[in-house]
Amino acid sequence: MFGKRASGGADTVNPPVRPKPAAVAPQPAAAAPPPPPAAAETPAVAQTPPPAPTAQPTVVGKAKAPPKASPPRVLAVDDRSEDYFAVKTTVFNALIDTIDLSQLAQLDAESAREEIRDIVNEIISIKAVVMSIAEQEQLLQDICNDVLGYGPLEPLLARDDIADIMVNGASRVFIEVAGRVQLTNVRFRDNGQLMNICQRIVSQVGRRVDESSPICDARLPDGSRVNVIAPPLAIDGPALTIRKFKKDKLKMDDLVRFGSITKAGAAVLNIVGNVRCNVVISGGTGSGKTTLLNCMTGSIADDERIITCEDAAELQLQQPHVVRLETRPPNLEGHGQITMRDLVRNCLRMRPERIIVGEVRGPEAFDLLQAMNTGHDGSMGTLHANSPREALSRLESMITMGGFALPSKTIREMIVASVDVIVQAARLRDGSRRITHVTEVIGMEGDVIITQDLMLFEIDGEDETGRIRGKHVSTGISRPNFWERARYYNRERELLESLESMAA
Ligand SMILES: Nc1ncnc2c1ncn2[C@@H]1O[C@H](COP(=O)(O)OP(=O)(O)O)[C@@H](O)[C@H]1O
Ligand SMILES: [Mg+2]
Repeated sequence: MFGKRASGGADTVNPPVRPKPAAVAPQPAAAAPPPPPAAAETPAVAQTPPPAPTAQPTVVGKAKAPPKASPPRVLAVDDRSEDYFAVKTTVFNALIDTIDLSQLAQLDAESAREEIRDIVNEIISIKAVVMSIAEQEQLLQDICNDVLGYGPLEPLLARDDIADIMVNGASRVFIEVAGRVQLTNVRFRDNGQLMNICQRIVSQVGRRVDESSPICDARLPDGSRVNVIAPPLAIDGPALTIRKFKKDKLKMDDLVRFGSITKAGAAVLNIVGNVRCNVVISGGTGSGKTTLLNCMTGSIADDERIITCEDAAELQLQQPHVVRLETRPPNLEGHGQITMRDLVRNCLRMRPERIIVGEVRGPEAFDLLQAMNTGHDGSMGTLHANSPREALSRLESMITMGGFALPSKTIREMIVASVDVIVQAARLRDGSRRITHVTEVIGMEGDVIITQDLMLFEIDGEDETGRIRGKHVSTGISRPNFWERARYYNRERELLESLESMAA
């Protein structure tokens, strides 16, 4: 794309047209029947007791073999015995024989729970199940979760340290904790139960997921984002992905503490944001783009009018003068969609001083660049790319694909005129997240955009535990392109000091 790359051939060359992993728009369902009642738990009568929690994870024939020989370690989230599950299945089956689940769904959560409690206690005494009070309490909790809540997902949802939950069919549940993806021993009775829980999640936001509309995005009440893709599209059973909402967002100090960036690097980013450079944060999925964007908005002054546009509100700005906007997927009839582009364009009529776009993934790139270019400097956005250069070509291809009939040179000129700094976030193979580049967009030479790195993360190797060793280094530039800007805002001394201390 860019005929020539400014530095180091190591950058990945972006294929000219790489459509985003489609923004998984919920399928508008034609002639949709009303969503099924919330507690539509199929009486999964023919249950087999769930396999032992320690079942071998690697025996599922169809799954792709992991690249290395060592089987993934199973994280025991659920420490109950097989006996417990057998008892639970018995009680559960007896319960569904006794009560009418659709009636239960009419009750509020508290009364439904009371109802279940009474019946479960009765069943336990009739069947003469021997259990301690604590076990009984847990059983009740479990059954309530199954009937009224999110079943086996509940304990995972309750944990604050989990970033993502990935369910690949009933018997494989992965979680990401501290940057590492791990298989857990959490499992669903069968794909039917999993599908019911998916359905329960999405019906809360008035959506539906089934064979006729098998793809669906939703959000849990706590703000976590959910995607469901069901059979027949998902071959081995429903795939459910939950990006957990973190209430306590990481702050820049936390990133420094984790070694994602140095103190001096953080100071430079703070100046970049504060002196109104236009910033693009680039990175892969889960690399920490949104987190970093959230941190960088901390540098915005309190008296600026900020408008944020997001697909699902994640940013938590501390400033008093913020308007938060969120896109809307089409409803069941396929109407009423509001895209990111609609929001960004509307934003321009709202007298913004800063426009913050959660994730740029389509033609809104054009509007954002225009905004950056026409007096809304200090705007920020994230996009999905693996290097700063790739971020530039992604911007270009998003505009090209948006149907703007502009010559590529014009688009590049527009990018150069708009974007000042690209900050690259990455999730390294040991699970750590690092800011790997702070790169300036400087200008054009012929058809090529020229960039200059201010800071890089250099990998030295690995220690015994497999953690990647490396350090943030300055490239020795002490007068970046935005120097004049920094001077205008009286921050140039600080900028120089930070850059110089990075070099040391
Ligand atoms: N520097 C970091 N160090 C440790 N964890 C991080 C860091 N940045 C982000 N995270 C965590 O990684 C997860 C994904 O971050 P997020 O910003 O949502 O990624 P993205 O927007 O790139 O998909 C979140 O749980 C977040 O708390
Ligand atoms: Mg994000």
